[in-house]
Amino acid sequence: MAKKVNSWDDLKALRQDALNALAGKPEEWVVVVGMATCCSAAGADQVLKTIDENVKQEGLSNVKIIQTGCYGNCYAEPVVEVRRGDQAMGEGVRYGYVDVARAKEIVTRHLKYGEVLKEAVVGQDQEVYIP
Ligand code: FES
Repeated sequence: MAKKVNSWDDLKALRQDALNALAGKPEEWVVVVGMATCCSAAGADQVLKTIDENVKQEGLSNVKIIQTGCYGNCYAEPVVEVRRGDQAMGEGVRYGYVDVARAKEIVTRHLKYGEVLKEAVVGQDQEVYIP
């Protein structure tokens, strides 16, 4: 059952809970898949499934996969962000036009070896974090 918000402090606590759910541990990769309706229509469901399956196949235990809504990069759906657990949402590397093949590459190159797929980065006006 959803928590009832009765005060400003309740709202702040709810916000913090949500931020905690999005955060990861510093040694963790956090993979965020845009899953708004039109992201799904563009294939995000298959991308999410592929990333999940490949993370398991590769035996990567330091990966947290979460879903979000619109990233604002609608022109490049499906969109996937990869960040370290100690980075805030939006500070990681954002990949666009992600299909099954690119989703596998994200796992086998970025999550496994820390290699950024520079050719697939979209919408980044900040420095790309390269571990
Ligand atoms: S609705 Fe999918 S990124 Fe905007």
